[in-house]
Amino acid sequence: MKTTITIASVLLLLGGCSWGQNNDSITSSENKVTQSQNNINSNQKHQQVDPDLMLESKFFNQVKIVNGVNMIENSSNVLSLVNKQYSIGSYEPKDLVRPKVQFSFGNQDIEKSYMRKEAATALENMFKSAEKNGIQLFASSGYRSYERQKALLDAEIANVGKQKAVQAVANPGQSEHQTGLAMDITSESENFLLTENFGKHKDGIWLREHAHEFGFILRYPKGKEKVTGYEYEPWHFRYVGKKHASVIYKNDWTLEEYFQHVKKM
Ligand code: DAL
Ligand code: ZN
Repeated sequence: MKTTITIASVLLLLGGCSWGQNNDSITSSENKVTQSQNNINSNQKHQQVDPDLMLESKFFNQVKIVNGVNMIENSSNVLSLVNKQYSIGSYEPKDLVRPKVQFSFGNQDIEKSYMRKEAATALENMFKSAEKNGIQLFASSGYRSYERQKALLDAEIANVGKQKAVQAVANPGQSEHQTGLAMDITSESENFLLTENFGKHKDGIWLREHAHEFGFILRYPKGKEKVTGYEYEPWHFRYVGKKHASVIYKNDWTLEEYFQHVKKM
């Protein structure tokens, strides 16, 4: 009953507004109706959203366009979407540490053996669990500075040409390695190299199937090249945290697709 009265009153009021008013006022009343309908619709949507897909606003890229480039302003965000569309510029993580894992290049204390602390701890746990399951993993390349990424891309362009190079190596400022949250992983079966065959070997398969339990995702999956902008990389794992990694894994999404589905809280 109450609802009927309220709706009737609103209709009467709206009718009243439109009588004898100029077009601008009518438009503004109509806008109000549209606005309130939107609110009702968004409240209904809100109720229907899977709680797994509600994401705090701090996890979304905060972007400022500088000279036509989308610059991420909250680059230390653990869910930072860094790709061909979004750049972290010359960002340097503040909490880089050396994970206590085996490296493909031995025990050298070099830039690529570092990761951000949270990701490094998760990597240690993942490698320990792999070992318990008879899988011996080797970390191959973690953090890369802007300058290092530039040198790698320049070298790849010199080797295979620009068109092919950009399908495999990111521009400086657009590599996840620069976030300190990514690690390239290999095994003895691949001669400690980064090969596509790793994805077919039991070590690569174990990693693909279990990485999410430790907060990592396979970032450049096969068949998603058009979404990610990169060739299949069975070795490149990106830390996003356990909860997000599990949702991404269970839905078979990339990080790009995850952000198409989540709703900002
Ligand atoms: N290979 C990945 C895309 C990078 O260069 O960051
Ligand atoms: Zn990588």
